[in-house]
Amino acid sequence: MGQYKNIVILTGAGISAESGVATFRDNDGLWEKHRIEDVATPEAFARDPDLVQRFYSLRRRQLNEVEPNAAHKALAKLQRELDGKVTIITQNVDDLHERGGGTNIIHMHGELRKVRCKACSSVHDWREDCAQETECPSCGRAPSLRPHIVWFGEMPFFMDRIAEYLAECDLFISIGTSGNVYPAAGFVAEVRAKGNAHTIEVNLEPSEGASMFAEHRHGKAGELLPALVEELLN
Ligand code: APR
Repeated sequence: MGQYKNIVILTGAGISAESGVATFRDNDGLWEKHRIEDVATPEAFARDPDLVQRFYSLRRRQLNEVEPNAAHKALAKLQRELDGKVTIITQNVDDLHERGGGTNIIHMHGELRKVRCKACSSVHDWREDCAQETECPSCGRAPSLRPHIVWFGEMPFFMDRIAEYLAECDLFISIGTSGNVYPAAGFVAEVRAKGNAHTIEVNLEPSEGASMFAEHRHGKAGELLPALVEELLN
């Protein structure tokens, strides 16, 4: 498998599941006891900003209690060994790829450990709770800060760069994503439409888009990824 020159890896909540981060669609459609539309839409933030700020502050705090797992570390190893050839596009807002040693990580749905000012557009690294009364460190206004998260109905980040990576890749691997949420769910079709890239799905179970992939590995990412990475390196 050593022939690949541009590898793109799409990750979703499933890669962080073994670290203890809750996935979105595995518990009766509820995310940490909330309906997604009550906490992860611009309308929810307009309706009840305190609830949404509290929700994301709790998610941010939970990051202090979790560690990267064998899957994050295996991908970091792949990136180290194939210097510059491996791009990770993640739908996850946690920082477990980075803490597992990963580099060149594109957070298309934003990052929990960042907040953004709606007034002056500045983006800030953020480890603490954030509330409506918290002032923007740049412009001093409040309420003005919001989670630096792409909510349903908002445009994912870095789509131009992502389109370039997808067009150029010769291996596309999707890991731990249910294939329910676009545009990420459509990446495999985009890759296939543009070239001859090999495509692999790694997921606990077949995803919505499983039939689009040439190769499937079903099981836990933390168990499957170390072996897959060794195959790619040998
Ligand atoms: N290893 C591999 N896959 C796993 C594991 C595991 N240990 N545990 C769960 N999975 C799989 C599940 O079977 C499921 O198919 O990971 C997938 C997780 O799917 P979702 O919870 O839907 O997460 P994701 O696809 O990342 O969601 C996409 O939706 O809510 C929004 O913006 C949010 O980024 C998120 C997007």
